[in-house]
Amino acid sequence: MRMTLRFALPLFLILGGITWAASPLTANLMTRWFRGDIELRSQLLFDSLKDAVADTQIETLFSRVRNDQRLLALGFCSPSGNLLQHSAGWPKPLGCPARPPDGGRLFAMERLKSGPLSMSAFALSAPGTDPGYLVFVHDLRFIDSRSRWADAYLAGLFALLAIMAVAVAVLVTRLTMRGWIKAVRDGLANSAEPVLPDHLAEAPEIASLVGDVHRMLRNGGNLRAANDIIRVDWTAESLKHLLKTELPETEVIVVSNREPYLHNDVDGRIQIQRPASGLVTALEPITRACGGTWIAHGSGSADARTVDEHDHVLVPPESPSYVLRRIWLSDEELNGYYFGLANEGIWPLCHIAFVRPTFRASDWHQYVAVNRKFAEAVIAEAKTTNPLVLVQDYHFALLPRMIRERLPDATIITFWHIPWPNPEMFSICPWREEILTGLLSSSILGFHTQFHCINFLEAVDRFLECHIDREHSTVTTGSRTTLIRPYPISIEWPPTALAGQPGIPECRRTVRERFNLAADIMLAVGVERFDYTKGITDRFRAVESMLETHPEWIGRFSLLQIAAPSRSQLPAYRDVQTEAQETARLINERFGRDGWTPILLVARHHEPEEVFTLFRAADLCVVSSLHDGMNLVAKEFVAARDDDDGVLVLSTFAGASRELLEALIVNPYDIQAMGEAIHQALVMTPEQRKERMHLMRDMVAEYNVHFWAGRMLLDAARMRKRQNIESTTTTMAGLNEHP
Ligand code: G6P
Repeated sequence: MRMTLRFALPLFLILGGITWAASPLTANLMTRWFRGDIELRSQLLFDSLKDAVADTQIETLFSRVRNDQRLLALGFCSPSGNLLQHSAGWPKPLGCPARPPDGGRLFAMERLKSGPLSMSAFALSAPGTDPGYLVFVHDLRFIDSRSRWADAYLAGLFALLAIMAVAVAVLVTRLTMRGWIKAVRDGLANSAEPVLPDHLAEAPEIASLVGDVHRMLRNGGNLRAANDIIRVDWTAESLKHLLKTELPETEVIVVSNREPYLHNDVDGRIQIQRPASGLVTALEPITRACGGTWIAHGSGSADARTVDEHDHVLVPPESPSYVLRRIWLSDEELNGYYFGLANEGIWPLCHIAFVRPTFRASDWHQYVAVNRKFAEAVIAEAKTTNPLVLVQDYHFALLPRMIRERLPDATIITFWHIPWPNPEMFSICPWREEILTGLLSSSILGFHTQFHCINFLEAVDRFLECHIDREHSTVTTGSRTTLIRPYPISIEWPPTALAGQPGIPECRRTVRERFNLAADIMLAVGVERFDYTKGITDRFRAVESMLETHPEWIGRFSLLQIAAPSRSQLPAYRDVQTEAQETARLINERFGRDGWTPILLVARHHEPEEVFTLFRAADLCVVSSLHDGMNLVAKEFVAARDDDDGVLVLSTFAGASRELLEALIVNPYDIQAMGEAIHQALVMTPEQRKERMHLMRDMVAEYNVHFWAGRMLLDAARMRKRQNIESTTTTMAGLNEHP
């Protein structure tokens, strides 16, 4: 039925149009035909009458011809155009023709209220009669009704033609489709690859269709197979369950530089702060679910006052569920290990942001010493010989090896939260072998993306003597094998910071009031640490470019940039902060007016709840990292939008762009294109926003942080079971050898 309509509608429309357009032409043609007839008729009538006029009174003549159906009336006009006599039926308002008949006769058409009339006038000068001209008035109304008939006939004919054409087209299409469907079915039936009947070999579109379907089925099969393994609703509870069943009695120890809770002394009062770090965002919910111990650098100004004699404090403060063990570092240690090697050396080495890495031997020594200090703490905290140790990030590349030396049976999962560079880049690091061997003491080494895993394997291949099994993605050095795998990090779902958030309208109102923005202003937000990898200045320039190309947004759009000061004692960080502030100032100076500024830069730390309120108040979020392992801000924005609204503009160089495919993906180095993407986000229809956000939310909900941890823990559990089997076999073999 639908197919028939698809053919019939356009055909009817076309033919209807033709009929409508042809109608005036038909009417014109018919008028001309019939007028010709009438005029000829008048001439004949006049010829047959003119001789009789001399002998007959004009009145008699009038009454003789009056019976004619079409002839409405006869009249006799003086040469000066006065109507001297006329028969009954002469239309009232009608006078004589305006000019005398030219060459003895004149044909004219008059249109009265009652309808069109034809006047045929013939000069008459018979003996005994005054000279003048005889006028025949014919009724032409019949032409109109005949035109209407002709139109109706034409329309009917076209309609019939259309019905016949549609019937033939539908029939032919159905037959063709039946042939195609059969061919596709035959091609798919019981074969791994498309096999087509000979007569369809020349129809490449069918072959490619069959190929596509095969590919889809294969991929679908793979996905299903993968999902069968991981098809769990990943929550804190399922993670706890997994630990209980797959890793029973296992002690969990987390090590990171940044602690999940800082105690700060603010005007003599202790305040708790949660740091702006993707790592903490991801790991905190996991540690809460697992219990255990988290070892981290105590960097809060009141940290030392809040720990017990073992440097322990129970967290989270509102419902304690795990132990935070704080490590104290001297300024010298901190400068060398954290600011120096980690943030001036490894950080720029791993991020392509065109900031030159600095490697100092003194920093390296501190890095080694601090890694050793943390290793000692792990050993001191471990109550068992084979704990599960989760080592976090580029601050601890040497830690796995140091732990392994003292706890050979530990299961060590190291997660590298930032990108891993290609071998050329990595080769500039003076301690590349030490870093690689340090990491390869891990049982599992995780990165966010497969791409970073490949980069790591290539670096290992180039700089170490070892065996790489690319099929299983493992590296074996001596007797130790490390699994190298991608585990894209995520956030908890639903996020804790979302609980208790006001509705979207209230968030919009509060944020606009707080930043002194008009109620109807379109708002973009950016939230990150003030870091040169985040592309904050590039984002400002994109806003500038958008205001140049789309001046309609002047006064109607603002970007609210929250930038938490970070590593500010390093020159590269100070430079980027100054540059961003200066860029914002210039743009505001150029475009700002009547109390409106296009860019609001707020350089202070915001707690997760505040950030979520901003996300909920915004129309879009811009994440324009120049290079980023994952970027959890992108995922948090999606998680904050339980109204399925808001647009995410996301850098293609952030790992998150591999998962959040429905974001507007941009190259932050292409300022104009990024400006255009912001404009696109602002004009996107509510339906499109909803559709995109919905898909992204599904993605983050399913692949949440518990899934991230769950996959690593499952891999660890499998590894531990295998090790148990191997050690039992070795023991039994030993027993057999020495009875
Ligand atoms: C970002 C990175 C993490 C890193 C953290 C350190 O969040 O993604 O990998 O650990 O920064 O930040 P910090 O302020 O502790 O130096």
